[in-house]
Amino acid sequence: MLGAGYRRVSVLDISEKALAVSKQRLARRADEVTWVAANVLEHSFQPQSIDVWHDRAVFHFLTDARHRQLYVAQLLRALRPGGHAVVATFGPQGPTQCSGLPVARYSSDELHREFGTPFRLLDHGTAPHTTPWGSTQQFVYCYCRLEH
Ligand SMILES: C[S@@+](CC[C@H](N)C(=O)[O-])C[C@H]1O[C@@H](n2cnc3c(N)ncnc32)[C@H](O)[C@@H]1O
Repeated sequence: MLGAGYRRVSVLDISEKALAVSKQRLARRADEVTWVAANVLEHSFQPQSIDVWHDRAVFHFLTDARHRQLYVAQLLRALRPGGHAVVATFGPQGPTQCSGLPVARYSSDELHREFGTPFRLLDHGTAPHTTPWGSTQQFVYCYCRLEH
């Protein structure tokens, strides 16, 4: 996102270790990012503070409907009206587990339905992701705008 020109980028992950790996990868540019170690379901996001929310491969870990509802409530609170959300999960042909944990798989319609009518679906698609160990996983992306 920094490479694409986004500024005031924050990265949130529940794992300090994951953040450390990303910081190392960004090297000197790591200082341009605000790093937040927190559970996305519990973090106190500043209301309407986010223009673009980008999640790849986190939402699909939420196999409990209550957790998915909490996630959507967090997104609704944090995103400014008119802001955009990109959420990517494993697609229907994706794996049933990730890092040894069960995951939910979605078509674009199913994924958009999780977020509901406040989110207008602007675009969607599937994309293969090559893992560090060389296998290919199907991802589904939904790109939505939070309606005013
Ligand atoms: C498969 S990795 C994806 C990492 C990165 N988004 C990417 O696409 O390369 C999933 C990440 O979600 C994080 N994660 C899982 N549950 C989370 C939660 N409730 N809150 C914040 N991060 C979470 C994990 O620590 C892990 O780093």
